[in-house]
Amino acid sequence: MNHTSVKELLNTSPSGQQVTAKGWVRTRRGNKNISFIALNDGSTIHNIQAVAEISAFSEDTMKLITTGSCIAVTGTLVESQGQGQKVEIQAKEIQVYGTADVETYPLQKKGHTMEFLREIAHLRPRTNTFGAVLRIRHAMAYAIHHYFNKNGFYYIHTPIITGSDAEGAGEMFRVTTLDLNKLPHTEDGSINFKEDFFGKETNLTVSGQLEGELAALALGKIYTFGPTFRAENSNTPRHLAEFWMIEPEMAFYEAKDNMDLAEDMLKYLINYALQNCYDDIEFLNNMYDKELIARLRSVIEKPFTRISYTDAVEVLKPKNDSFEYKVEWGTDLQKEHENFLVEHFKGPVILTDYPKQIKAFYMKQNDDGKTVRAMDVLFPWIGEIIGGSQREENFEKLSSRMKEMHIPEKEMWWYLETRKFGTCPHAGFGLGFERLILFITGMNNIRDVIPFPRTPKNAEF
Ligand code: 4AD
Ligand code: MG
Repeated sequence: MNHTSVKELLNTSPSGQQVTAKGWVRTRRGNKNISFIALNDGSTIHNIQAVAEISAFSEDTMKLITTGSCIAVTGTLVESQGQGQKVEIQAKEIQVYGTADVETYPLQKKGHTMEFLREIAHLRPRTNTFGAVLRIRHAMAYAIHHYFNKNGFYYIHTPIITGSDAEGAGEMFRVTTLDLNKLPHTEDGSINFKEDFFGKETNLTVSGQLEGELAALALGKIYTFGPTFRAENSNTPRHLAEFWMIEPEMAFYEAKDNMDLAEDMLKYLINYALQNCYDDIEFLNNMYDKELIARLRSVIEKPFTRISYTDAVEVLKPKNDSFEYKVEWGTDLQKEHENFLVEHFKGPVILTDYPKQIKAFYMKQNDDGKTVRAMDVLFPWIGEIIGGSQREENFEKLSSRMKEMHIPEKEMWWYLETRKFGTCPHAGFGLGFERLILFITGMNNIRDVIPFPRTPKNAEF
């Protein structure tokens, strides 16, 4: 390696050693004799300062060192004279890899709006904010694998192209190689998908759960962590058309075990972020959201409130006047109701036992005939961060629910067979990865916690 990361250099005690740093110039200031160059290489939110005596370099080199240019600086690592950093590099050699024209480089000034930065998503990783978000995102992905591995879960890769609609909500992106201008037809005039690539209709998956269940009924405890796709036309700060989901599925777990796991995992992840990404979180806290760190801490400290949908409706109904959507038993809860509950109980809430008509076909039916053993975890700031349930393991009950809900049993024969052969109680849930990152970073819009967001009418980059 012919250079050292800025992160490592900033943690090195200076003893006059020769070092090389490589990165992008954030700012350059100084006078006609001396230049102070703030260099960032993405390894940390902090920059290293390189100090260059102008007379030691050619004029041609110096004029190329502007905000956004990419350079290598070699020099002596010394204790910094100035404030704000412990060490700096006294530059002896500077190589310019790439220039950034002062007139046209879009990140010239500070303080761009998030909306503007979305239009330059190819460059926004170079801002402090997106550097912080992307490092946190990485750390969370790592922590998720670590958490499951240490708790005896196996990571299962479920397919991205599927023939089934796991949520039964019909919000899928079609996958086809048919020529849309020359579609083959059957005798009755419908499209002949037998001629399509897979010989049947296929889509991008909305969830890895169904295949995850197959694996859990063999390996015990599994999880999936992959991209999922939903063609729902929800242009909100909480929805993406392509998002990542973590879906654990556990044989022999019932509703309470499922809730315990969800709560323990979320607390572990938030704690991990505070322990391992403090610099980045502190930056976001100071820059955008002074309550961020306090909010993260408060979630770790207390047990989550656990309450049934039916009881929650009783809490909400007296407040109907203040809601845009009125609540009564049987209605799906909106963001405003979720927010109210989280504020009312002063922290995360796990809502359970929803009316069966607003939940997916696979959820275990309760004895009351009206509700299913669902759980949604509601978070401050976010609303629903996790959706899950105990699963219906009884073949007859599952099959009749599928009929009622017009879920094509014929296509799901393989899913139903798990209830015929060695079925058992099991449960699982899905954590929206971007919603977790939203919570941990305190960002306002889900488009700003994924490098290249996919939303209605938007698939640039
Ligand atoms: O509640 P959902 O739809 O549940 C499932 O997909 C189940 N199959 C999960 C399971 O039991 N294995 O989605 C789970 C979570 C939501 O709570 C939310 O955090 C996130 O996925 N989510 C989205 N995130 C971003 N954009 C969207 N359009 C999302 N839809 C769901
Ligand atoms: Mg849900």
